[in-house]
Amino acid sequence: MQNTLLKVDNLKKYFLKRSSSLKNASYVKAVDDVSFEVFEGETLGIVGESGCGKSTTGRTIMRLLEPTSGSIKFDGEDLSTLSKKVIREKRRNIQMVFQDPYASLNPRHTVKKILEEPLIVHKLGNSQERKEKVDEYLEIVGLDSYHAKRYPHQFSGGQRQRVGIARALMTNPKLIIADEPVSALDVSIQAQVLNLMQRLQEDLKLTYIFIAHDLGVVRHISDRVAVMYLGSVVELAESESLYAEPLHPYTKALLSAVPIPDPSYEREKIIITGDISSSFTDSGCKFQARCPYATVTCKMNTPKLVEVKPGHSVACHLYSTD
Ligand SMILES: Nc1ncnc2c1ncn2[C@@H]1O[C@H](COP(=O)(O)OP(=O)(O)OP(=O)(O)O)[C@@H](O)[C@H]1O
Ligand code: SF4
Ligand SMILES: [Mg+2]
Repeated sequence: MQNTLLKVDNLKKYFLKRSSSLKNASYVKAVDDVSFEVFEGETLGIVGESGCGKSTTGRTIMRLLEPTSGSIKFDGEDLSTLSKKVIREKRRNIQMVFQDPYASLNPRHTVKKILEEPLIVHKLGNSQERKEKVDEYLEIVGLDSYHAKRYPHQFSGGQRQRVGIARALMTNPKLIIADEPVSALDVSIQAQVLNLMQRLQEDLKLTYIFIAHDLGVVRHISDRVAVMYLGSVVELAESESLYAEPLHPYTKALLSAVPIPDPSYEREKIIITGDISSSFTDSGCKFQARCPYATVTCKMNTPKLVEVKPGHSVACHLYSTD
């Protein structure tokens, strides 16, 4: 039996649209009733195209954004109800790694200062202990202690992301939310950083939420994958099951763009047209305008995420039994 580290229930994050008036408020439903669990020691991949709400989900779990509604239970405690002061302390246990390490690392600070900062914020260790931990973690992520004196611009992209990962690890977190951590890197460097993250996960017993827009990237690192479309999780399954037998038409379309290593294996190909902005609808399935299987039912009723096989859930009327 796996222990649940994070349980997100009916999470919503709506942003007021700039164009809306006081009388007629309208919202971007960036995260629209999302529920999932993350088990201790696993990697949950979250995948979907640009604007589907992946980062907002991550940032709302961290309470960097205030949830509109829903609960976020981490280690048995509901983060959504804690005061801002308490939540700042709790963030020691949940850290983020960002897509663009150059933008997320202060260019005027040395790596030593960047890595020490989380320790100072959380009042961990004296100056000597902090220095030792900086050296230790530089080594853990494959850098050297002499790198501590350097500034972010003196590193390559891959090295900078190693610094970003080291910074996230400084407070010994349990959960890392990695928001497209390799998307900005060259393909050859991506593999190195992914390997590093996998090694760190084993050595430090970490749990990951790994966000990407490409199913190819999350395949090897994820135990389970959640596919998001316009603020909703449309499919959630173990990686193997999702890649071998995708159920949701949107997942099939995403996988149609991923090369198949074994050419003798045929996978149904779905090419979708239009972009996510063509999908805003008041009722029914959000994917209806782009789905080749859409029926009248899809236009009237919103499909719920239901488990159709052990550990494999999908939100699509093609699989509903009622
Ligand atoms: N602070 C904000 N204010 C208003 N709207 C926002 C804000 N942040 C995000 N959004 C909107 O919420 C939706 C989801 O954005 P989000 O950044 O979570 O998507 P994403 O899946 O991470 O996309 P990407 O792959 O481009 O990073 C988008 O429509 C975006 O424009
Ligand atoms: S519910 Fe209907 S429109 Fe939505 S993905 Fe399934 S078949 Fe397509
Ligand atoms: Mg994002």
